[in-house]
Amino acid sequence: MKKLQQINLVISIFVLSFCSFGCQAKDYVYDPVIVRDCDVVWLDELDVSKVASGYGSTQRNLSIDRNPMTIAGVVYDRGIGTHATGEFNICLDGESSRFKATVGIDDEVGEHKASVEFMVYGDGVELWRSGVMKPKMPAKQVDVDVSGVKHLKLVVDEGENNSYDHADWADASIEIAGKVPVAINTSRPRPYILTPKPGLQPRITGPKVFGVRPGNPFLFTVTATGQRPMKFLAINLPRGLSLDFATGRITGTIEKEGTYKVKLAAENSLSKNSRAFTIKAGDTIALTPPMGWNSWNCWGCAVDDEKVRATAKAIVDSGLINHGWSYVNIDDCWMVKLNSDDPIVGGKTRDENGMILTNEKFPDMQALTGYIHGLGLKVGLYTSPGPFTCQSYEGAYEHEALDAQKFAEWGFDYLKYDWCGYGTVSKGKTLEELKKPYQVMRRELDHVKRDIVYSLCQYGMGDIWEWGEEVGGNCWRTTGDITDSWSSMSKIGFSQDKCSPYAKPGYWNDPDMLVVGQVGWGPNLHPSNLTPDEQYTHISLWCLLDSPLLIGCPVEQMDEFTLNLLTNDEVLEVNQDSLGIQAVPVFKDATRQVWAKKMEDGSTAVGLFNLDGFVKQKVTVKFKNLGINGDYVVRDLWRQRDIGVFSESFTAVVPSHGVVLVKISEKK
Ligand code: GAL
Repeated sequence: MKKLQQINLVISIFVLSFCSFGCQAKDYVYDPVIVRDCDVVWLDELDVSKVASGYGSTQRNLSIDRNPMTIAGVVYDRGIGTHATGEFNICLDGESSRFKATVGIDDEVGEHKASVEFMVYGDGVELWRSGVMKPKMPAKQVDVDVSGVKHLKLVVDEGENNSYDHADWADASIEIAGKVPVAINTSRPRPYILTPKPGLQPRITGPKVFGVRPGNPFLFTVTATGQRPMKFLAINLPRGLSLDFATGRITGTIEKEGTYKVKLAAENSLSKNSRAFTIKAGDTIALTPPMGWNSWNCWGCAVDDEKVRATAKAIVDSGLINHGWSYVNIDDCWMVKLNSDDPIVGGKTRDENGMILTNEKFPDMQALTGYIHGLGLKVGLYTSPGPFTCQSYEGAYEHEALDAQKFAEWGFDYLKYDWCGYGTVSKGKTLEELKKPYQVMRRELDHVKRDIVYSLCQYGMGDIWEWGEEVGGNCWRTTGDITDSWSSMSKIGFSQDKCSPYAKPGYWNDPDMLVVGQVGWGPNLHPSNLTPDEQYTHISLWCLLDSPLLIGCPVEQMDEFTLNLLTNDEVLEVNQDSLGIQAVPVFKDATRQVWAKKMEDGSTAVGLFNLDGFVKQKVTVKFKNLGINGDYVVRDLWRQRDIGVFSESFTAVVPSHGVVLVKISEKK
């Protein structure tokens, strides 16, 4: 390959000197060291800083990690090295004739499980697609006619997941017939706000049902929007509970099992609002999907006490708390790293009694949980059943009893239990082996006098949705990790129908945390790569799916769009509905899907989704597919307004990658 390139270079110098008149070099600046045929523009000659890469920065004539570009043992001298999810937009203005390239995954990924798909679009029409490519697969040739195309879009999508997706567009060139192509910025559509601001009059939000185990501390904050000061009231609270009128916090313990019907009210100088609330004292908690925040998608291992406090405070200050957001969960990296030279504990991961130690970023866990509880919120923690976590921090293996005890003592209300290091202990992946570590921790959690939501994380192995309830989980991850790309979010979200029958109050499928706002999985954050429409899709779908809703961005840095996206009470009600029925698809074609879910008030929540990446489309829901017929009121939940009365069907024009989320209720 190298030799061929050298010959090419000689020919090119020769050709260049002969036909430089026709080359329009004046139209843009070429890298002076690059020699090219006069009627061909190489991709690496364009402004590659305009290429969006999912990780690192796009490289000219090298792989993303700056190694010689190599696909299946063949070295290429030119091209661009990128990482999925990536996009390169080029203006051809109808004056080019062919696009050619040799594509594949760079050998530098070694044994890692990368997978990508290359795509070429001309004015929104798919011209070529590679299919999913894996490491060491021979390169594929792209050779497509781009005559008349104005806008060429080169996309590298993650194939099955988004790790080590080092994708090379080698020997990539555009044959030009006239004007020279120009790289253009991948434009980020402007965010647009749909949700009206809450009114000044009080309106109670949050779940209408709450579960607690008799004898365990009860902690629930009645939430409401509206002007402050506000006074909270509760009529018929069961014996053992009391309400703080000023904050809406209900605390105490219920000794007797039973279902208690309570009336909650919120009152300010303008008016009063009340609603029925059911407390179920029994053996099931998390009767609606948990809503809150988790540190992983933003801070990764850069999480610390200060960042967690900042988010907790911001949940209150921004008003998110008034919409039912209640958990503040610390993910991986709060413990001591194995083999680390931690300055404080000198590398010790547990004390002399075997009790788990925190690292220096969490100097006082109890003070932290106290601070968060003091704000009226709840707190969550993460660990692994293995000897170490995914990031090689101390895990719970063979210390499950002590750890459960410690977590309760610290005051945690939520535990995410992540398989990871347990892979080194487990004797295989039989169902029995998959269940075992989760059963062990369940037993230990049952011994502590605290309601701790138990979140199982093992990426869906062994179809966990079929047995997550049996091993005592309150929610269970159904997939690998999400990233902030359309391909990741949509692949996960739209594939949840298989798990749907297993969701019910107390037991939820978890398609992973939210990727809106600033994300980064480490110290450096970036705005989510999802477009505004994709973010509306993400939140609508996760609400329809009864998924736990865990915000993955620093709340103290949240912009107005993101805040608006997360504070639409009518949308959140779809997620928090007391029936706990997960949506199922009632219509699917190549680029459109309709998902529907029955609600407690007899209505149906319906998401009309457009999966096409380029054009808006009409999407229709037929009432017979919802099992209803007659006249129905259709309400737009994002805009919080009735659209009209429809019979037989409702059709909406849905933006590309967007959604129209409606509630369909019988006309009174
Ligand atoms: C992964 C898990 C992520 C995050 C991470 C922490 O296994 O799926 O959500 O918790 O571990 O290391």
